[in-house]
Amino acid sequence: MEKVVSLCKRRGFIFPGSEIYGGLRGTWDYGSLGSELKFNLKQAWWEYMVRERDNVFSVTAAIMMNPKVWEASGHTVAFTDPLVECKTCHERFRSDNEEEIKSHEELHRKKEEKVEWTEPKQFNILVEAKLGVVEGEKTTVYLRGEITQGVHVNFKNVIDSMHPKIPFGIAQIGKAFRNEITPGNFTYRTREFEQMELQTYVRPDEKIAMKEFEYWKNERMRWYLTLGIKKENLRFREHAPDERAHYAKAAWDIEYKTPFGWKECEGIHHRGDWDLSRHSEFSGQDLSYFDQESRERFIPWVIETSGGVDRALLYFLLDAYYEDGERVILKLHPKLAPYKAAVFPLLKNKPELVEKARGLYIKLKKDFNIAWDDRGNIGKRYYSQDEVGTPHCITVDFQTLEDDTVTIRDRDTAEQKRVLVSELTPFLSKSILT
Ligand code: GAP
Repeated sequence: MEKVVSLCKRRGFIFPGSEIYGGLRGTWDYGSLGSELKFNLKQAWWEYMVRERDNVFSVTAAIMMNPKVWEASGHTVAFTDPLVECKTCHERFRSDNEEEIKSHEELHRKKEEKVEWTEPKQFNILVEAKLGVVEGEKTTVYLRGEITQGVHVNFKNVIDSMHPKIPFGIAQIGKAFRNEITPGNFTYRTREFEQMELQTYVRPDEKIAMKEFEYWKNERMRWYLTLGIKKENLRFREHAPDERAHYAKAAWDIEYKTPFGWKECEGIHHRGDWDLSRHSEFSGQDLSYFDQESRERFIPWVIETSGGVDRALLYFLLDAYYEDGERVILKLHPKLAPYKAAVFPLLKNKPELVEKARGLYIKLKKDFNIAWDDRGNIGKRYYSQDEVGTPHCITVDFQTLEDDTVTIRDRDTAEQKRVLVSELTPFLSKSILT
């Protein structure tokens, strides 16, 4: 984990938020390569979940919502974590986080101090903000605690504008905010993060709902596997009834084997009619669906897949990290890799090589994110690209000037072959297909 964190900082993937001011706990900033990786991850999700299907629609809702939304959704009351306070130093923890509680107790014991905790109390993790221009008359709003509600409040808009036939889905990717009691483990648990979610609306029928639930469980697992996460590092885990969120009738997690244990990656939830019924009740709007085929009107049930973008990104990095002697390799799936290839002139001081390589770099950049490197020797450039996960390194040498071929080196096998420059675009396109 430390090695991945340090690689992220050194090579421009992820930096501590507001670092020059001493940071802000639970926030992280993405640098050049981190932003590219995040963009690719979200794009891979969107292609798989939205574009490749004909019954999935989408919204991009506002982050700040009318406070009534959160009353209706139950978050103002039930979006809580159990908090305990150490009576000695007043530090606060989640009472269900045994690891942290134990290590804190150990800390005091070492100093021969006694350890006593307050009784757990429920702490609401919605993040508040104030809106309005008159001091004293500002409205308290909440930054959304899950992106989900932005979809459900637009249910009627989507139906009226897109006329979907049930079952159908509405997808969204966007930021969510939680006042986490103990953010930690790098970007695993943060106070600001992105989610990628699909809400699938089905007929209110347990058999239909559970079939959809099973379908999405498998689809979501398949997505992580297709993008290269090792099978042995993923598993399903069912939530016990007392562990489920207030809206969930059934809940399963996809978990990843991190260096700090098996941890949640994504949740698949059976939300029943909770969201639409509550929003109907609180808004006074009719949020039912009329099925043209059966001529029936009903409030659909919802099957949700809810993944964290930042958390998945961390897992993809952890899973891709390899060491081979001195060499560090990020074996990221080419679809996710920040750069699809790097272009080098064999020698920096040969203008004819630099000019040819530069031309190739600019041409390929029209279709792919390509790195340029003319520093140091070729070996060092290979190592540098391996470390950031660039799947292919293309070198322009003297033979290129004669026959328009280049060497292309594979990140994972270090094998090199000669290919025609005209074959590069199809070669790179093929490599990023899943
Ligand atoms: N709409 C359902 C929902 O929000 P959740 O299990 O609370 O369900 C879904 O969150 C996903 O969002 C989690 O599986 C995780 O990947 C991500 N997530 C939740 N809290 C997070 C946090 N504090 N930091 C980073 N990611 C988080």
